Amino acid sequence: MTETLRTTPLRVAVLGAGTVGSEVLRLLAEQQEDLAQRIGAPLEVIGVAVRDLDRDRGPHVDRALLTEDADSLVERADLVVEVMGGLEPARSLLLRALGNGASVVTANKALLAADGAALYQAADDHGVDLHFEAAVAGAIPLVRPIRESLAGDRIERVLGIVNGTTNFVLDLMTRSGAGFDDALALAQEKGFAEADPTADVEGLDAAAKASILASLAFHTRVGIQDVHCEGITRVRAEDIAAATRMGRVIKLLSIVERVEGPEGERVSARVYPALLPASHPLSSVAEAYNAVFVEADAAGSLMFYGQGAGGAPTASAVLGDLVAVARQRVHGGKGPGESSYAELPIAPIDTLRTANYLSLTVHDRPGVLAEIAGILSAHGISISTLHQEPLLSDAALPEEGEQRARIGIVTHRAEESAVREACERLEATDAVISLDSRLRVEGD
Ligand code: HSE
Repeated sequence: MTETLRTTPLRVAVLGAGTVGSEVLRLLAEQQEDLAQRIGAPLEVIGVAVRDLDRDRGPHVDRALLTEDADSLVERADLVVEVMGGLEPARSLLLRALGNGASVVTANKALLAADGAALYQAADDHGVDLHFEAAVAGAIPLVRPIRESLAGDRIERVLGIVNGTTNFVLDLMTRSGAGFDDALALAQEKGFAEADPTADVEGLDAAAKASILASLAFHTRVGIQDVHCEGITRVRAEDIAAATRMGRVIKLLSIVERVEGPEGERVSARVYPALLPASHPLSSVAEAYNAVFVEADAAGSLMFYGQGAGGAPTASAVLGDLVAVARQRVHGGKGPGESSYAELPIAPIDTLRTANYLSLTVHDRPGVLAEIAGILSAHGISISTLHQEPLLSDAALPEEGEQRARIGIVTHRAEESAVREACERLEATDAVISLDSRLRVEGD
């Protein structure tokens, strides 16, 4: 049945016309009629705010709509789509839009992770919506399932690969044996990594997404500063080779979970590269794809998989949100606001218990293993497996007559603080020439 359409269009301001913005504009133009039917009113793009009017933005961006005056554009809008990224001027523009009674759709994970509470508050104060499906894992519906579909369940853990760039680089290292620098250069050449890849390779993008997921899953404000974050720049070709020999794969994981301790329930949020069993479903996530497990009490384990980045996939998530907020404009009602009632404390990383892989170059002489085992034992760390590894090709040549060996140790779970202290002692002991790697082991 065709519903009667409101004839007055909803005025849409688009902030940013980069890879995602131009795809949002393409979908808005190509699906104009269908979107109007789904919403109950037509959408009219009243302007597209950009920093540089002269830059070529492809065939889908109507140059007549471009403006450098984002402030006055948001003043005139019913709905604001923010795909410009960065903290400022995005934050001021969105606060202005919300304050002015416009609903907001944003893909800006960094802003939400840094200042989500202020945006939620402004949306709440003015009775409007703030939607951000595109901020986490691109096209993959994840925010809405956690925020709405699982609102009646108790989420225990969210674990996944939420950064496509780093997954592409690690996958390439695994398949080709390349080192980090070469794999990153190839990823940049193929357009899978940005010219400045810092936010991706240092884990900051994944940490921002982890903070958003943790806040939603545990009804607790979790800022980016609460997420323990380690990137992939220190993962070496030798670590990947060692992981392969052990039947494991190295992935950059974002993990947010409830942890129980003597102080009660807390939230742990962390991002680090970790060794997963090759049989784990996340191990087969290749190239720039993302995949996320959500574990809930009643629902059990749910897995979400798909394209976590790129113009069209991210624009799909933006359009889904835009239809939702536009419908609410037309038919009344309001989407979910912030839910932070649980106010769980954050568990410091030092209290976490993880299994670890340690790779060491050592003197090859009697008593060395006993010394290493003694240090680990003194810190309450139990060894799960121990094996000899090939010597590093780039290691400094030993003195004449000196014998060296490399060993790989996988520990059972132990407290982070104990592992850190043990590593410091290992590095300081005469038996050990260098502690070459320490990586967590997950998924067993
Ligand atoms: N740079 C991100 C990634 C996409 O590589 O997954 C946007 O968050």
